[in-house]
Amino acid sequence: MSKKNTIVIAGGGSTYTPGIISALLNHSERFPMDEIRLYDIDEKRNDDMKLIIDLLLKEKGFVDIPLLATKDPEEAFTGVDFVFSQIRVGGLEMREKDEKIPLKYGLVGQETCGLGGFAYGLRSIKGLLEVVGHVQEYAPEAWILNYTNPETLISEAVRRVYPDIHMINVCDMTISIEETIAENFGYDRKNWIPTYYGLNHYGWYTEIYDKSLKRDVMPEIIEKLQEKEMGVADFNEGDESWAQTYKMMSTMVNYFPDNLPNNYLEYYWFPDMVLEKTDKNYTRANQVMEGREANTRRMAERIRNGETEGVLNFNFGEHGNYIVDIATSLLNDEHRRFMIITPNNGAIPNVRPDAVVEVPAYIGATGVEPVSLKPINDFHRGMMEAQVAAEKLLVDAYFEQSYQKALQAFTLNQTVPSARVAKQVLDEMIVANKEYWPELN
Ligand code: G6P
Ligand code: MN
Repeated sequence: MSKKNTIVIAGGGSTYTPGIISALLNHSERFPMDEIRLYDIDEKRNDDMKLIIDLLLKEKGFVDIPLLATKDPEEAFTGVDFVFSQIRVGGLEMREKDEKIPLKYGLVGQETCGLGGFAYGLRSIKGLLEVVGHVQEYAPEAWILNYTNPETLISEAVRRVYPDIHMINVCDMTISIEETIAENFGYDRKNWIPTYYGLNHYGWYTEIYDKSLKRDVMPEIIEKLQEKEMGVADFNEGDESWAQTYKMMSTMVNYFPDNLPNNYLEYYWFPDMVLEKTDKNYTRANQVMEGREANTRRMAERIRNGETEGVLNFNFGEHGNYIVDIATSLLNDEHRRFMIITPNNGAIPNVRPDAVVEVPAYIGATGVEPVSLKPINDFHRGMMEAQVAAEKLLVDAYFEQSYQKALQAFTLNQTVPSARVAKQVLDEMIVANKEYWPELN
């Protein structure tokens, strides 16, 4: 058995922290830990989370694992083996602005897609570069597992500064889609070898090979979806917004039945339909603030008041284990297959090699080994290349502090019908993000 691992969660105060730690504890024989650290620049949230994790460790019988919450980077990162990064620069308050500003101009208002995603990207790059800088300084050998959004943008930006970085970018969306489909239509996704390509939150399945059935089940899944809308899987239970999202998958495969799409394509294919269903004054950020976020604050408050019984209530579901699966595949050289966000370098042969794509990859002790795919069709390729160019322009805008490049990126975004609207949104976002964006000239 390998040595024990010291881990740090960057963005420790996040409501996702209990899910990650819980999954790690459930697999402690494959991923033994000797210390857990929570790093967050927001002390209050981090302290709240420390109370919650402390209780979680007690409930699961891991009182001997030391737990530290700190905002001091040296204390947080020195000597760590793994960094799990899930920071949200500007918090949910800025997510709300990312969603609401585009909506004012009749555009999709979403956390990672459209112009909201671009605004978040310019904030997030700076925050993640800081985290990566700390890792370089205090634990240069550590592996960073990053799921800080918007992931393609982050990955592109970090690799420009640190080309040889030990960082794996992962997103749970493909796993959530697969889990939801499997639950709805009676499959076991553990038997699946899915093939998928795209950018993060922007892609398509080409095959879902089922090892026990010995066939590609994607065509039959698409047929089922065409006829019947899905309900949410257990880990999204009671969440109306995810329910809507998964229903839209039926609409998508009725229009484009050749592939199973990532649910996030609804924002690019059907912005008009999405807008019809959106309340401009109460967006997803509001729902999350009043739901997951408030619930977490309440739990911390109860523990602070001395309660210990029945305080912790989370719904992680199975799909949260993917982070542990990736970490152990790396640690124990297991060469398991995941969807990973990684430089293309020919994995999709007819998409520019310097794009950051999301493709199947095997993970072992030396990192990510992407699978080489077949050329993709013009519909997907055209969409992807436009999105890649827009994202590259945005990252250029960040490093060159270029207003012109930012405007080009905003105009090229496929949720935007006019340069005039792009400029209006950009100008309003510059003001809203004054504390967070680089100055654009
Ligand atoms: C999925 C995506 C994440 C995203 C999250 C938003 O898990 O893969 O990248 O952040 O959804 O969920 P929320 O419940 O915060 O709207
Ligand atoms: Mn994601």
